[in-house]
Amino acid sequence: MSQLSVEHLLGIKYLTQEDITLIFNTADHFKEVINRPIKKVPSLRDITIANLFFENSTRTKLSFELAEKRLSADIINFSAGQSSVKKGETLIDTVNNILSMKVDIVVMRHPNVGAGVFLSQHVDAKIINAGDGTHEHPTQALLDTYSIREELGSVKGKKVVIVGDILHSRVALSNIFALKLQGAEVKVCGPTTLIPKYITSLGVEVETNLQKALNWCDVANVLRVQHERMDVKYFPSTREYTQLFGINKQILDSLDKKIVIMHPGPINRGVEMTSDVADSDQSIILNQVENGVAIRMAIIYLLAQQIKR
Ligand code: CP
Repeated sequence: MSQLSVEHLLGIKYLTQEDITLIFNTADHFKEVINRPIKKVPSLRDITIANLFFENSTRTKLSFELAEKRLSADIINFSAGQSSVKKGETLIDTVNNILSMKVDIVVMRHPNVGAGVFLSQHVDAKIINAGDGTHEHPTQALLDTYSIREELGSVKGKKVVIVGDILHSRVALSNIFALKLQGAEVKVCGPTTLIPKYITSLGVEVETNLQKALNWCDVANVLRVQHERMDVKYFPSTREYTQLFGINKQILDSLDKKIVIMHPGPINRGVEMTSDVADSDQSIILNQVENGVAIRMAIIYLLAQQIKR
C-alpha cells in the first residue's frame, strides 16, 4: 500500500492498521533524513501549509512547523490570540480567507470537539487535526506508538497503561485507538472521577491501583491533570492525587521489571511524576518529541501525494 485510505487526518478512529504501517515506514525514512547533516528534502516545494492554532501549544506547533520546513513547504502561521477571531470572525470565514491565499493543507488545533471534521466538510484543503478539545490528538498517538515500536521492537502484544486524567484527554482516546489497532493490551489508571464510563466499551480495562497497574505493564504513558478543562473539583487535592497516582523512583524501583515511561508533555513535575522519573533512563519523553517531527513529515508527505496539481 502506498496511499493512505483517508483524505484528511482527523482522528485515529478513521485509520486502518495498513495506514499506520505506511505512516511508520514513511517516518522511518524521514527519521533517517533528519539525522543527516543536511536535514531537508525538496519533496513539497510546491505545497503551502497553514498552521492554525486556536489553543496553546509548544511541542505540536513547533514540531509541525519544523516538519513542514524539512519538507521544503511554504508555511503561514496563525495564533488565535493575535488574530481577528478576537474581533468576532467565525472559523469558516477565518479559514476561507486563509485558503484564498492558495493554501493546500491546514493543520489545526481547536478547543472544540469535531472542529477538524467540520472544517473538512466546508473547505477545499487537506485537514490535519492537531488536537480538537477533549476528542482526538492523532499525531500524538502516532508518535507515541511509533516510539513504543522503536523502544520495544513492536507494539503488538505489549501491555500499556495510560495513567491520569483520562476524562479530559484527547491523547488518551487517540492512544487507545492506535494501541488497540496495533494489537497492544491497554489499561487506564486514575481516580474514578477522571475515567469516563464508556471507556471499557473501547476494549480497555480500568485499574485504580497504581502499583498493580505498573506491575502489569511494559509501558506507562502518564498524562497531565488538565485543570483548565475542569469546572468542578474531581479529587480532593493535588497532594492526594500525587500520593495515589504520581509516579516516583521508589515505586519504579519496587517493580520486578524496568518499564518504559512516557509523557506527551507538558509535564507538571512533582504532580504526575517526579523529576528523577521524567529524567531517568527509563523515560523516552524526549524520544517522543524527536519522533514527532518524523511522524508529522510522514503524514504531511502522504496527504500531499493525494493533491492533484
Ligand atoms: N503534546 C502536546 O500536544 O503538547 P503541546 O500542547 O505543547 O502541543
